[in-house]
Amino acid sequence: MSPASTSLKPLAQMAVEVLQTADGRAKAALSLAYGAAWFAARAEEKQGGARPDIGQATPPDEPARPTAPELKDPREVPRRRPGTPEGRNAMLHAIAHIELNAIDLHWDLIARFTHIRFPVGFYDDWVKAAMEESKHFNLVCDRLEALDSFYGAMPAHAGMWRAALETKDDLLGRLAVVPMVLEARGLDVTPGLITFFQKAKDTPSVEALQVIYSEEVHHVAYGSKWFHFLCGREDIDPKEAFHSMVRRYFHGLLKAPFNEEKRAEAGVPPDFYWPLTEPEDMVAQIERTAAQEGS
Ligand SMILES: [Fe+2]
Ligand SMILES: [Fe+2]
Repeated sequence: MSPASTSLKPLAQMAVEVLQTADGRAKAALSLAYGAAWFAARAEEKQGGARPDIGQATPPDEPARPTAPELKDPREVPRRRPGTPEGRNAMLHAIAHIELNAIDLHWDLIARFTHIRFPVGFYDDWVKAAMEESKHFNLVCDRLEALDSFYGAMPAHAGMWRAALETKDDLLGRLAVVPMVLEARGLDVTPGLITFFQKAKDTPSVEALQVIYSEEVHHVAYGSKWFHFLCGREDIDPKEAFHSMVRRYFHGLLKAPFNEEKRAEAGVPPDFYWPLTEPEDMVAQIERTAAQEGS
């Protein structure tokens, strides 16, 4: 049963409760329940009900996290050979960790910037993205558990929340770095991951990754959409703003090769990302594309 919009908690408060939930599965479940309640209230609104309240809340600087996995410096996370079952589990574990962070990143975006005025569609987009990340986390945890492992069985990268902390007072920076750089990077690397699990004949993992791949493009697109919206409202050049935000908040250069087609689909054009990479990378990708087209 969906709660009536009048009894629904303000969205910012729901976001903070998700952020304060430590256990991964419980976080994903609450995220899905609150997301469903939000969209039920929005459907009621379209039938003449009141608009659900966004409200205001204070999100924690760091979201609650389970006691396991242990979070380590990326250089200290043990590497396992990719061709082995342990290597595949390690890869699924790393993906689960990314998805869990992504749930928190979207709810944090919802709760943290309520002082900035937006059309309600801004909140619809990020609630939908948070629900999809919750599904992704569950899908990958299901795979780990089917393979006699679980999320928390091995160490995971610390520092994934760094981009969120550094952009906690800068929404333009947050949109540039989180959806338009970090999530766009997911579009670049996921086809290779799918091939990797196909070679291992792990069809359920391939199917999980295909769901993730098809939905992640929307998250990048929401980032681009609202980044452009803000730039348009403030009358600033989006490409220049993107370059300056990424140079300020993202440490290092962007890494080619890029999935240019999916990035274009998500509204991130080449002149946004190529100037932020090594020039040699661009030459290498042009040569690779030419070789593929010639073969
Ligand atoms: Fe995801
Ligand atoms: Fe995502």
